[in-house]
Amino acid sequence: MQNQNSGHHSSHDSSKNLELGVNIDHIATLRQARGTSYPDLLEAAFLVEKAGAQAITIHLREDRRHIQDADVYAIRKQIKGRMNLELAATDEMVNIACEVLPEDACVVPEKREELTTEGGLDVIGQFDRIQKATKQLSSQNIRVSLFIEPNIEHIKRVTDIGAPIIELHTGSYANAQGDDQLRELEIIQQASEYADAQGIQVNAGHGLDYSNTTAIAKIPQICELNIGHSIISRAVFIGIEDATRQMLEIMKQARL
Ligand code: PXP
Repeated sequence: MQNQNSGHHSSHDSSKNLELGVNIDHIATLRQARGTSYPDLLEAAFLVEKAGAQAITIHLREDRRHIQDADVYAIRKQIKGRMNLELAATDEMVNIACEVLPEDACVVPEKREELTTEGGLDVIGQFDRIQKATKQLSSQNIRVSLFIEPNIEHIKRVTDIGAPIIELHTGSYANAQGDDQLRELEIIQQASEYADAQGIQVNAGHGLDYSNTTAIAKIPQICELNIGHSIISRAVFIGIEDATRQMLEIMKQARL
């Protein structure tokens, strides 16, 4: 069933299920482009769940460029599976999360001008702010994940901060080609092993698509992938249910 090929000591169960969180932000991007009421975010969430994804991931940005506050509350109320809310470590966002109570909250860096989330959290320079957010969210029993670069020094800071989960940023891997990509893959593998041995749950995401996900899905310590842009893009042609199913199948095959 699950991949058992890690010979390394693992601080917890080494055979993990690999789960998928589908980030549906770009359904909202399409809606906001015209200020219409469609495409319906809840319909997207239902179809993603119907296809078998374990979580719905959304990012409420400070500039509200795609997901709106009302979306966050509606999704919280209506979905059956897990909700993973991505948020910046600001008082405004942490207060919203503490009201909405998603199962998971992934703390991400956020700069107004950027096209998407560029790079992982600055867990060294922003240590106090991130720790404060982590403590506030954890006090409401929200599982906190920190979106970080695959870097051992950063993982050590996560332990100091006290977050139970990391999401490793796969953007550098996704953007690289050939040997460079293999080097990036190795960095993610080593970071995953290290974090797992510290008892931190390892998730991964950003830039994963139908051709580059297999190698990441094969890393046995990884528990969850969060994937958005590629799935929503494929959904334009084949529908979001099949686009989600195809990604789940890639993940399943990778773990056989
Ligand atoms: N994980 C995190 C923390 C993100 O911020 C994003 C992008 O919003 C994703 C995963 C999904 O990235 P992509 O849209 O490139 O699949």
